[in-house]
Amino acid sequence: MKKTALPSPSPAMLAHSEQLVQLITAQMQQSKPVLPFVDFMQQALYMPNLGYYSAGLDKLGKTGDFVTAPEISPLFSQCIANQCQQVLSSLENGVILEFGAGSGIMAADILNHLDQLQCLPQYYYIVEVSADLKQRQQTTLKNRLSDELFTTVQWISRLPEEPMQAVILANEVLDAMPVHKFRVEQNYIAEFYVSYQNEQFEWQILPTQNTLLQTTVDNLRLPIGYVSEVNLLLEPWIKAMANILEKGLVLLIDYGFLRSEYYHPQRNEGTLMCHYQHHAHTDPLILVGLQDITAHVDFTAVFDVAQKNNLQIAGYTQQANFLLASGLLNNLTQYETHEINAEYFQLSQQVKTLTLPSEMGELFKVMALTRELDLSLIGFS
Ligand SMILES: C[S@@+](CC[C@H](N)C(=O)[O-])C[C@H]1O[C@@H](n2cnc3c(N)ncnc32)[C@H](O)[C@@H]1O
Repeated sequence: MKKTALPSPSPAMLAHSEQLVQLITAQMQQSKPVLPFVDFMQQALYMPNLGYYSAGLDKLGKTGDFVTAPEISPLFSQCIANQCQQVLSSLENGVILEFGAGSGIMAADILNHLDQLQCLPQYYYIVEVSADLKQRQQTTLKNRLSDELFTTVQWISRLPEEPMQAVILANEVLDAMPVHKFRVEQNYIAEFYVSYQNEQFEWQILPTQNTLLQTTVDNLRLPIGYVSEVNLLLEPWIKAMANILEKGLVLLIDYGFLRSEYYHPQRNEGTLMCHYQHHAHTDPLILVGLQDITAHVDFTAVFDVAQKNNLQIAGYTQQANFLLASGLLNNLTQYETHEINAEYFQLSQQVKTLTLPSEMGELFKVMALTRELDLSLIGFS
């Protein structure tokens, strides 16, 4: 393993990582001597039982590797619930469908808040690719919801076939999708592959065999030598949602930029980031299966695919603007009392983390895609 200033994993964690490394290298030997980085990232994150999201590691929260907005504060999910309420009120038998529900805390806080607002969805569906997280979500929701509310939650392994009226939610899901890493060369596009030599994974940069990657990167018109990533899974993912959404909203929250900023000449080494025990670094080839690997979201790509699939772009803004417009401060004042109140103080600190430009307020964006909705969405007003 390469030397870094990161905390050392325990022997048990190293053994876990070694098992995953063996499976990945066995596959490399069988099929090809090198693996496209996109496949390496897929296996490092999602290999059943061993990948970062599939194994029983802590991952989210203070004891894990990174913290997401719903883990920081219930106020975040209450704002999402306020936006859901506005849309659910204009749907018939509307449901909520959440992708990648993490620990399940956002689902719990949304359902409890919608219950208070007397605007529950018919069902709260969760699509989760990690069996371990699904189990964790079940425990969280059982502990935090009444029995009656718990019955509205259903885990589904694929999207329903019938068209539905729905609010579809995905917080920090797009950034967890495997990406292709590329470099622009004089007459071709090179792709980053991974090989295994001297007991460690190494980069191999070779002409890509992938014609979709080639044309997608050609269309970006980037200078020679430019290195970045592209998420080719985005299109089928949005298309699948567009195919089943009869009426409603898709709300995507993630960190990223529009294309001009994403592929800015100065951002010429891409946006890949890894998170291990609250340390951020840029080497995805180490700590295999023990660290999160993410890439920022190109929101222009999301716009383009949404438009191609007849979804309207109903809003795009920074997280801070969305939360403030969705009632963040009203939600906070519910906790205000005449006496000095530790809970209120803590929640005020959480508001800062969610909204300050130096924290999550500016880098995180919220995008709304709609179909057949004649509403001015509160979060973007
Ligand atoms: C960074 S975590 C975010 C978790 C949670 N949404 C939160 O904000 O705390 C990414 C989540 O997305 C899930 N995920 C990644 N790709 C997915 C996909 N294609 N469909 C459903 N879930 C996915 C992961 O298993 C994980 O639960």
